[in-house]
Amino acid sequence: MTGKAGIAVFISGSGSNLQALIDASREGRLAGEIVLVISNRAEAYGLVRAQKADIDTFVYDVKKYPDKEAACRDLMELLEEYQVDYIALAGYLKLLPDALVTKYRGRITNIHPALLPRFGGKGMYGHHVHEAVLASGESETGATVHLVDEIYDNGRILLQGKVPIIPGDTPDTLAARVLEMEHKIYPEALDNLIKGMYK
Ligand code: GRF
Repeated sequence: MTGKAGIAVFISGSGSNLQALIDASREGRLAGEIVLVISNRAEAYGLVRAQKADIDTFVYDVKKYPDKEAACRDLMELLEEYQVDYIALAGYLKLLPDALVTKYRGRITNIHPALLPRFGGKGMYGHHVHEAVLASGESETGATVHLVDEIYDNGRILLQGKVPIIPGDTPDTLAARVLEMEHKIYPEALDNLIKGMYK
C-alpha cells in the first residue's frame, strides 16, 4: 500500500495514452499509481507496455463467463482486490457495466479524440471521428477528457485541448496531431481530478 490513489487503466489497442499516463505517474506528474491494466483484447499492444512497466494486467473477456452479471462481479472483485480508486479508459471500446459506473461515479475518465459534445456518441471512434471532423469543414479540432456515465461520450467535460486543422489534412495526419494533444491533457486532467480540483 503506497498511500497513492490506485488507478486501473482500461484499453483495447495500442495504449499510447496508457503510456502517457505511465510516464506521468513515474515522473511525479500524476497523483496516483497505475496498479492494473485491463484489456478486452488479449493481443492489445498496451498489455505489452504495461508488462514492460511492471504493471499487472488482466484480459477481461465477457464471453468467457456464463453471463454478463458473473463477468461484472468478477471485474468488480478484481478492482477491489487491487484497491482501485480511479478508472481511466484509454481507447477502451466497450461500454462499462452499469453497476461499475454506479460504484465509481465521478471517478471514471475517458479520452475522446474530438472536442465534445460534437463528434461523439456511439460509432464515433477512431477514424470515424476524424473523417467526420474533416467533412464538417471545421478549422480546429482537439481532444476531450470527460467523466464517464452510462451513455457514450456524455459525462462532464474535465479538460479539452485544441489543435488546428491544416489544409491537406487526412484522417491520419489529423489523428496524429490530436493524439499528441491527448497525451498532454490526459495525465493533467486525471491529476486534477484526483487532487479534487473539479468541484
Ligand atoms: C485515442 O485516440 C483515444 O482518444 C480514443 O482511442 C484512441 C486510443 O489510442 N478513445 P491509444 O490506444 O491510447 O494509442
